[in-house]
Amino acid sequence: MKLRSFIAYILVIVAIVWSISSTSFATKPPPQPTNSAAESLRLLATKRDFLIGTAIKPQPLQDDPTYREVLAGEFNIIIPENHTKFWRLHPERDRYDFTQVDAIVQFAQEHDIKVMGHALAWFHALPRWVVEGNFSREELMEILHDHIQTVVGHYRGQIYAWDVVNEPVEANGSLRETIWYKTIGPEYIDLALRWTREADPETLLYINDYAEGLNAKSQSFYNLAKELRQRGAPLDAVGFQSHLGFLSTNNPEEVAENMKRYAELGLDVMITEMDIPINQFKGTPEQQLEAQAKMYRDFLKVCLDASNCNTLVMWGFTDRHSWMTGFTGSKDPLIFDNFYHPKPAYHAMWEELKGSE
Ligand code: XIL
Repeated sequence: MKLRSFIAYILVIVAIVWSISSTSFATKPPPQPTNSAAESLRLLATKRDFLIGTAIKPQPLQDDPTYREVLAGEFNIIIPENHTKFWRLHPERDRYDFTQVDAIVQFAQEHDIKVMGHALAWFHALPRWVVEGNFSREELMEILHDHIQTVVGHYRGQIYAWDVVNEPVEANGSLRETIWYKTIGPEYIDLALRWTREADPETLLYINDYAEGLNAKSQSFYNLAKELRQRGAPLDAVGFQSHLGFLSTNNPEEVAENMKRYAELGLDVMITEMDIPINQFKGTPEQQLEAQAKMYRDFLKVCLDASNCNTLVMWGFTDRHSWMTGFTGSKDPLIFDNFYHPKPAYHAMWEELKGSE
């Protein structure tokens, strides 16, 4: 009798454990790291002096060992996705908060990964104290100067490149009427570049936008870069955000053409925020993934083939942590799936890097 109830007790426990584990596996497979340790994207890129990167978020960096493992194994450059933006670093006029970014920079240094900073002067991600402060031209210049001096100075020597002005042009080709533009005037761009250079003479300076193809917006972004160079502003490169098929063109020939004219100006081009939502492609889920893979490959090739492009950064690496999740109609834009399995896009980039060794 005793033995029978003991066996029944054991059976109940086994049933409970089995049902819990099978439920959690059915809804949420455990994350699997990539199986490419031998020759990662990073390794192939580093061999040819190429920078392959991703935007990153501090939370999974802190909590998720698989996130850290894939990140450090696959990439040699990162951009904090949100935490170098104005409102994160400078929440009150007299208070800066470097805690999160310091941790990111430390992780990067421990793993020999370069860090890019984004974005010093932008119209989004501004704290209310800036937007609602009703500041005069002189006050706003002082605020931007102080912000750049303090932030860039804090990370002097540790940031590979700074996105100094983000999204300065409108779709119709005019300069965007941001608070900086309206209050300081168009020279806010020259000033921001100069102040950044003063605060860190070694870092690369770039302006960044979704102006990759050949249209009114990209023409005016190009004109802006050209004029800045002619005026002697310290501009080293331009960033092509490359949210392909979402904010940006998905035509690689146009982008290749556009890159060339920057080379003629002596400017580098960096791909800074690439992602490719699959819903822009027709067909079965498998066909969509293949089309996505082809587009990742084509754009990587455009950069590899250009004389002035040696950096390609994606706006995240796993669909588990993409800004597009939640955006209507835009999804699964990255090269690892929700469970850190490499997608066809990963393999396509791998082959392209390998092939061009
Ligand atoms: C996005 C982030 O990915 C989101 O997490 C955030 O909520 C909003 O900003 N262009 C840019 C980036 O320059 O800073 C934006 O990042 C995406 C579009």
